[in-house]
Amino acid sequence: MTTRKTEVTPVDGTPLKRMFWSIISDYDLQTGLCELIDNAIDLWTSNDRKKPLTIAVSLDVDRQLISVHDNSGGVPKQDLRLLIAPGGSRNDPNAEIIGIFGVGGKRAGIALGEKVEIKTRFKKEGSFQLDITPEWLSSTDWELAAYHIPDIPPGTTQVEVSHLRKPFPEQAIKDLSAHFGETYAWFLKQGCTIKVNGKAVTPHNFDRWAFPPGFAPQSGSFSIDLGQEGTLAVEIIGGLIRDRNPEEENYGVYVYCNHRLVIKELKTRDVGYFVTSEAGVPHPDASLCRVIVRLQGPAKLMPWNSSKSGINVGHAVFQQIRPPLIRLVSHYSSLSRRLKNNWDDSVFAHQTGTIGSLPSADILTGRRLNLPPLPRVNKPHIEDLKARNKTQLKNKPWTLGLVEAIAAVGVISRQRLDTRNRIALILLDSNFEIALKEFVVHRNDLFPSQQFNDAKIRELFQKRHEVIKAVSAKVRIPAVLLDKISHYYGLRNKLIHERATVEITNTDVANYQATIEKILSKLFDLKFPRHEEP
Ligand SMILES: Nc1ncnc2c1ncn2[C@@H]1O[C@H](COP(=O)(O)OP(=O)(O)OP(=O)(O)O)[C@@H](O)[C@H]1O
Ligand SMILES: [Mg+2]
Repeated sequence: MTTRKTEVTPVDGTPLKRMFWSIISDYDLQTGLCELIDNAIDLWTSNDRKKPLTIAVSLDVDRQLISVHDNSGGVPKQDLRLLIAPGGSRNDPNAEIIGIFGVGGKRAGIALGEKVEIKTRFKKEGSFQLDITPEWLSSTDWELAAYHIPDIPPGTTQVEVSHLRKPFPEQAIKDLSAHFGETYAWFLKQGCTIKVNGKAVTPHNFDRWAFPPGFAPQSGSFSIDLGQEGTLAVEIIGGLIRDRNPEEENYGVYVYCNHRLVIKELKTRDVGYFVTSEAGVPHPDASLCRVIVRLQGPAKLMPWNSSKSGINVGHAVFQQIRPPLIRLVSHYSSLSRRLKNNWDDSVFAHQTGTIGSLPSADILTGRRLNLPPLPRVNKPHIEDLKARNKTQLKNKPWTLGLVEAIAAVGVISRQRLDTRNRIALILLDSNFEIALKEFVVHRNDLFPSQQFNDAKIRELFQKRHEVIKAVSAKVRIPAVLLDKISHYYGLRNKLIHERATVEITNTDVANYQATIEKILSKLFDLKFPRHEEP
């Protein structure tokens, strides 16, 4: 047994070509082409975006060819290896750019097609060409032939991909334009032009906020200090949106890193969805909530995945953003739900306003964001009901109990009681019986006391169907209401008389409540907020 550390023949750590197999998996057309666009944009950024940048993407559906041409500056002869050597990069990891891993361009080209031809010309120097072929990819040799070629325009790079690994359909062209417009919106406004088959891409931003009075979007900025590693500036903004498209899932969380969109419409547990006390299950009712996160700083600190098509949720930076992010997602999802009965008037109509700002100290602690209180849920509550029925309550004080019982049903329905629906049903049914009694007793004009003396009334109230009959004889109550009452009375009786307990659903309660409210309106002219039909 060796007890000391002694040196033996060194082990050869040269990578094998097989490594390309792993780094080209998970790449699709969009991800791949974005890597090539990222590279042109990075060089443009490194040169302070002095000259306008044009990136021309061409997709030939018939011949299944892809090309990306850019005039960002080209690659000098001595740097050609950066275009093929995994890990090769000229980028400063501390710069506010996109490229950091030294693999994107290689990965993308090889993932898209079996043959990749790269032509490049740095300034007005010579023009060169590299051909990545299946032969090179399968050989053990890492050396690749480089060619001096007739001049291409100065400062340009041209990548041509053929023998595609996956064919693309016509529709892909339109989708790509939209994707580039979203991903590079900021750059497109800074003098960069991206063309897809000759047509310039239009930038698309997601800051399409609505400004409901009292519920404007809120934004906050803070920085994440990672000590010697550096600092990241974070801007986070949440609000309700005006551009909701029911065909798409265009809500949730959007993240930009150094101005480049990395992920949109994120609706996972990591950002607060699927947790009941947070944003809950993504649902159309909550779909006006959008939260945008913008990160600026050293590329090496960004919490993106290696293909920049998603967020690495385990990343220390993401962990710091997570608490305020979840608070905003939860808040605006809840607001969206609470206003759902009238989005047109309560949200979409408010097109302009000012974005509120949250103190950065609050955001950093994450727990207590000083967000405006949410509006009350649009369910009957007692003050509202009393205000609606002010005159009736003054003139017919015996209706107070009937109104308050309806409010109590609302209160019970919001409690975390497993059997709340059953309690609500019993209450509604009793409220109906009491309502009939109050009607008979107080409507002397219809039920004169000579005829309906105490003894008669006592006898009448022994039998519910007799009371219903007596009242229906004086007031026209639609049969559909009476049928529903009879149905729910049956359910209530089952609770009392039968061995097995029946299940009462939310819909049952909502339905019965609406029915009883209609009866109360008929008998006493009481008013209740309009509900959607259950
Ligand atoms: N179109 C281009 N124009 C000029 N230089 C380029 C171009 N494409 C690639 N390069 C050079 O090649 C290098 C490698 O690019 P590659 O995309 O593989 O890695 P990266 O951008 O540094 O990092 P990442 O893997 O994060 O994209 C770049 O750093 C850049 O110097
Ligand atoms: Mg790159």
